[in-house]
Amino acid sequence: MENTASVHAKKIMLSGIQPSGDLHLGNYLGAVKNWSGLAEEFDCFYFMADLHSITVRQNPAELRRRSVSQLAQYIACGLDPEKNTLFIQSHVHEHAELGWILNCYTMFGELSRMTQFKDKSAKNAENINGGLFTYPSLMAADILLYQADFVPVGQDQKQHCELTRDIALRFNNIYGETFKVPEPYIPKVGARIMSLGTPTSKMSKSDPQGCVFIMDSPEEIARKFKRAVTDSDTENCVRYAPEEKPGVANLMSIYSSVTGRSFAEIENEFAGQGYGAFKRAVGEAVIETLRPIREESQRILADKEYLRGVYTQGAERASSAARRTLRKVYKRIGFVEKPF
Ligand code: TRP
Repeated sequence: MENTASVHAKKIMLSGIQPSGDLHLGNYLGAVKNWSGLAEEFDCFYFMADLHSITVRQNPAELRRRSVSQLAQYIACGLDPEKNTLFIQSHVHEHAELGWILNCYTMFGELSRMTQFKDKSAKNAENINGGLFTYPSLMAADILLYQADFVPVGQDQKQHCELTRDIALRFNNIYGETFKVPEPYIPKVGARIMSLGTPTSKMSKSDPQGCVFIMDSPEEIARKFKRAVTDSDTENCVRYAPEEKPGVANLMSIYSSVTGRSFAEIENEFAGQGYGAFKRAVGEAVIETLRPIREESQRILADKEYLRGVYTQGAERASSAARRTLRKVYKRIGFVEKPF
């Protein structure tokens, strides 16, 4: 009993992850690495957002493979399934159900203003489907089902979080206190990692040459760092000056994240050495950081029974929380109680 009470005293954190590709160094150093520590302080839920994925056309075999392989990568990055609730969105049918309901409390005008909808419809002009438009109501359902206090989000999802708050407030105003109104969670730590090829843009899988994936082989990682863009200044000296020397600054951030050294220590370490030696050292440090993660991902991925156990247990835990909220919602809006 005591245990249950302390679990419920923790604030709830929730995030969805689109199973859209392998994790990269930017995801790892910027976010996931820090998530493992959050479980001490928060009750954390993370899920593979496969319902969201089908708003753009997917290859079924690929979607299935990626949902599981991404889950394995998150576990390998330190998300412990015993301490976090890890699950697959489509396994918890309450998401789709509350998603429909919240569609009826979300305005056409609000959805029309979402910048992600505008961007994605410009990119997928041949498939501007209803799901792409109502994507934010489903995301609101994901969050509100668990009465989440915090949602760790990047800049691109802030508008969706704002809309979630508006939907929750609207619903609560009509029917009385039903949903916790969530807040975006801006992590205190977490590096912003830029592309190795274009150090003024964020590292992204859409730019594979500038992007180091956690599943890349050591040879591949070494090659990508060797080709990393440093700056065309004449000083050829490792110095932290993000405006003037964004390429070097990015490599310094990466090196600092993986070794824990400060920028001043890094400048000292490479004093008198050129960019070539520096890039090699950063590449090696990243290889050694990612090696155990890649090996662990492969090991987990090969253990299908284990993974199945993880997402079964995750869905069970998630369902019981989701069911509680959905039941309350059905009652509030006037649905006849299900007799069976
Ligand atoms: N839309 C998010 C993204 O593209 C993924 C997501 C789905 C999500 N549901 C969520 C994130 C709920 C946070 C909370 O990154």
